[in-house]
Amino acid sequence: MKISFQHPSFTADTVIVPILKNDQLARITEELAVRFSLPTDRLSTDFVADAGQVLPLYGPTSQRTLLLGLGEKGGQIDYLKTFRKLFFEQKAKLTSSVAVDLTILADHTPDTIEAILIGILTAQNDPGLYKTDRTETPAFFGPDGQLALLINDIPTDQTMLTNAEIMADTTRQMLDLMNAPGNYKPPVALANWAIQSGQQYGYAVRVLYRAELEAEGLHALLSVSNGSDQPPALIIADYRPANPATELPTVGLVGKGVTFDTGGISIKPSASMHYMKSDMGGAAAVLGTVEVAARLGLPMRVVGIVPATENMVDGRSTKPGDVVGSYLGKTIEVIDTDAEGRVILADGLGYMIRNFTPDVLIDLATLTGSVIGTLGYEAAGLFTQNDDLATQLTTAANRTGERLWRLPLWDAYKDDLKSDVADLKNYSGKPMAGAITAAKFLEVFTENHPAWAHLDIAGMAFADTEFGHQKNATGYGIRLLIGYLRQLAILS
Ligand code: BES
Ligand code: ZN
Ligand code: ZN
Repeated sequence: MKISFQHPSFTADTVIVPILKNDQLARITEELAVRFSLPTDRLSTDFVADAGQVLPLYGPTSQRTLLLGLGEKGGQIDYLKTFRKLFFEQKAKLTSSVAVDLTILADHTPDTIEAILIGILTAQNDPGLYKTDRTETPAFFGPDGQLALLINDIPTDQTMLTNAEIMADTTRQMLDLMNAPGNYKPPVALANWAIQSGQQYGYAVRVLYRAELEAEGLHALLSVSNGSDQPPALIIADYRPANPATELPTVGLVGKGVTFDTGGISIKPSASMHYMKSDMGGAAAVLGTVEVAARLGLPMRVVGIVPATENMVDGRSTKPGDVVGSYLGKTIEVIDTDAEGRVILADGLGYMIRNFTPDVLIDLATLTGSVIGTLGYEAAGLFTQNDDLATQLTTAANRTGERLWRLPLWDAYKDDLKSDVADLKNYSGKPMAGAITAAKFLEVFTENHPAWAHLDIAGMAFADTEFGHQKNATGYGIRLLIGYLRQLAILS
């Protein structure tokens, strides 16, 4: 699909007119009523601009106009979701040329335009890739499709168009990876994705397979993979800008890559176990962010590390009570084999700080059911001792709408991880403050890094969306992290 800015006189088969529900609505409705020769009172009764409301209007020629309500507030995520839903639901009816008329929408900053474009482009997402009777891609999304953004003053700098295309393209690949069934994405599939991406976009990717993991002592990661026939991997994606700005920090990102979590010997109930193919949501956010950083040519080094494994049930599985080692040498008593995320992240974090000494260290993981109990599906848990980092990440979260809410990391919670037999245990055994004690466990393996943040994205990575009746991938984390990295580039 080709995307361009065009003057308002441009004609397309379908024109979408996004309209906010604000004090301008009465005036706008009146103007539209004149333009389409409709009675004003009828139009203002039928179109109230609630978020997602769609009113088709026909004429004056064969053109079809869709008035699209945006609701009262105009955050990036609201624009993104409203456009994504419209284009997804209208998929079958989309003409090959579509225009979005931005002239009525006063708020057309680059942020808004990027959000609208990402919404439109990610509407191509299809969780049904494994169906045999798949419908063809609509012409609009194909090479001959055209999307025109109608605007009075065409911006001279059009990088926002390509930037949005990059964000959407990488995000869609991550949605496909997240939605992929466990049997289609063993740990090596994540590694192969990263290797291919690194070659395509010019960043270094190194993968440690079993022999190297053993040689280098990533015992915690290996212990989780014990029960699986699929070999584990540690994926290292290292983007270095061609002309790095020397004052910018190196950012280390670590993502949980459990490609399927049965719980292991502490096996999960079966009702929702199939959703545990999504337990690599942190990995998707990290790999996606490194790819986007490379494609956008961001000015700082970004290193992504993904410990990837399955967590399976087998005669060789790690058992409750087993004591396992770790890359940093600390011993872990595995109380519950379903608390496997923190165990593999121990090695991911340890490997990152020992080998890359990042200035900022952020990990993302679908780590606990507890964070869903706490924040539901509206925000990810943010854990950090660093107030500046908390502010920066929260600013990016508020701006992108990929919400974060800070939870405490007080040492009072540390006692819950004391083990009588090893350096620490992986679960307190108490059904309380689970997201916090998980974060306290990770903290041990950051060796008090001064700028570490942990994001528990269990409720955000996989959720109810317009794409299907079952939960599916959201792509959470990429826009948030790219937003954070862009802020760093601007502030310096
Ligand atoms: N992958 C799960 C967490 C999860 C739950 C993610 C629901 C997404 C949706 C994690 O490995 C896990 O099982 N955590 C346990 C930890 C407990 C045994 C200490 C949990 O949260 O119940
Ligand atoms: Zn688990
Ligand atoms: Zn898990």
